Amino acid sequence: MKTQYYVASSLDGFIAAPENSLDWLLQFGEGEGTSYPAFIREVGAIAMGSTTYEWILRNQIHPESAKPRPWPYEQPAWVFTSRSLPAVHGADIRFVRGDVRPVHSQMVTAAVDKNVWIVGGGELAGQFYDHRLLDELIVQVTSVTLGSGSPLLPRKIVTPPLKLISATTYGAAFAELRYEVPHS
Ligand SMILES: NC(=O)c1ccc[n+]([C@@H]2O[C@H](COP(=O)([O-])OP(=O)(O)OC[C@H]3O[C@@H](n4cnc5c(N)ncnc54)[C@H](OP(=O)(O)O)[C@@H]3O)[C@@H](O)[C@H]2O)c1
Repeated sequence: MKTQYYVASSLDGFIAAPENSLDWLLQFGEGEGTSYPAFIREVGAIAMGSTTYEWILRNQIHPESAKPRPWPYEQPAWVFTSRSLPAVHGADIRFVRGDVRPVHSQMVTAAVDKNVWIVGGGELAGQFYDHRLLDELIVQVTSVTLGSGSPLLPRKIVTPPLKLISATTYGAAFAELRYEVPHS
């Protein structure tokens, strides 16, 4: 079981453009031909921050429409927020706040022998890193630059550095970098 931050980033280190736009990423399709299908098969629990959750509501679920789309994940999900947010019908979503450590314990239990996925954003992944709970960083480095936006991982990790496990190209759009996160 590993705790993984699997994410797509611009070449200059942003996971969303200003105002949370993902158009730069979606121009390449929805993950077909990448490692995502194999990755998600091994995920047993997911966590995300409220900006990411609200992006999914706005752009994928459309709860206000006559026929809202279903929640896209089968795994139980933990959404971090200090606010009261609407749930999604039929989805296993728990709203939590504060210290990530007790939430991580619940996620590990729920995931059984599968992995825990930190969907994003970067600051939330950083909170797991701060408590030495992050094992791997898997970045789909996308062939675009954004100039500004939401940071990939707003932490200083220098010594020991991340350990590069693999670098794989997926067509002309993505270079996937897998890193092991040092715990010492
Ligand atoms: N490129 C990709 O692969 C990828 C992946 C994931 C996300 N994204 C995008 O990247 C952007 C990320 O947004 P973001 O940087 O704002 O991050 P986020 O993690 O999605 O949301 C941050 C918010 O979550 C809440 N939160 C975080 N930690 C908390 C804690 N411990 N306790 C309580 N609440 C907590 C806070 O809001 P409140 O307390 O006010 O609710 C905080 O402002 C979004 O646009 C998302 O769609 C892209």
